[in-house]
Amino acid sequence: MAHASLALQAALKQVSSEIDRQFDLLLTIPDDPRADLYRAMRHAAIGGGKRLRPLLVFATARLFGVDRSCTARVATAVECIHVYSLIHDDLPAMDDDDVRRGKPTVHRAFDEATAILAGDCLHALAFEVLGHEATYPDPFVRTELSYELARASGPSGMAGGQMMDLEAEKASFDLPTVTRLQAMKTGALIACAVEMGAILGRVPPEGRTGLRGYARDVGLAFQIADDILDAEGDEDLAGKKLRKDGARGKETFLSLLGLDRARAQAEMLVDQAIAHLHPYGPEADLLRDIARFTLERDR
Ligand code: IPE
Ligand code: IPE
Ligand code: MG
Ligand code: MG
Ligand code: MG
Repeated sequence: MAHASLALQAALKQVSSEIDRQFDLLLTIPDDPRADLYRAMRHAAIGGGKRLRPLLVFATARLFGVDRSCTARVATAVECIHVYSLIHDDLPAMDDDDVRRGKPTVHRAFDEATAILAGDCLHALAFEVLGHEATYPDPFVRTELSYELARASGPSGMAGGQMMDLEAEKASFDLPTVTRLQAMKTGALIACAVEMGAILGRVPPEGRTGLRGYARDVGLAFQIADDILDAEGDEDLAGKKLRKDGARGKETFLSLLGLDRARAQAEMLVDQAIAHLHPYGPEADLLRDIARFTLERDR
């Protein structure tokens, strides 16, 4: 992938194949009328995407020497929520998109009802994975992981942000409102990935301040980059249709700040994110690389 450091490229590759493997194990196609539901989930979940959220779980958990198989399960749970959010985001009732991760969207490859149900199932699967003993022996840790992921996914997180995002096509939001929208729609799940890495590492909440600051800034920078890519990116590289926000008159950082100031803002956020990691040494270099990558990426 362009603009990723060698260490980051290697980590992205390793995490992608680990997540593919986890989904492959979780989503065995049954020999009954649910087969298409499983095919639809596999279509959406396997073999695509940057796997940024899983990578954030891994990169954070490794600061604290967490067992890799526990980390892989938590990373998969976060990706379950992300993939479900993409399936629903692409539906005709929302963004009405035909291409995702370089493939037909789920409602295109299957049908709308199957896409809705595949999203529902991935949503539930996230919590099934977290609740399982194999995810972490201590049930208090599993509860905390589930609580954080539920909060990041629901009305105060991703889904609430998606609602505000739909409103952003009709209303004219100011900068603080767009910032809140983006922090919920995209930032919450990204922040949750980091938080879950810290929970696995048994870091008490008062020890998570720097990581939280990092995650918040990375989340915002990531969405500004998504908006910039929407305006300027290459559809083949992005694997999805672009130039949609402007066409729909959606209020984004770009519409409010213009390209140059939006990019400057994102660069400032990346620097700030890296500054939050000052208590950590070279063991946090992967997190630093991820912060830079959020902006330099081409997909
Ligand atoms: C796209 O997320 C949707 C947003 C939240 C901006 P990603 O850019 O992480 O999508 P994938 O996972 O790489 O496909
Ligand atoms: C979607 O945002 C964010 C989600 C929570 C799924 P976008 O609608 O901007 O994402 P893309 O551009 O379709 O990937
Ligand atoms: Mg959308
Ligand atoms: Mg969309
Ligand atoms: Mg977008």
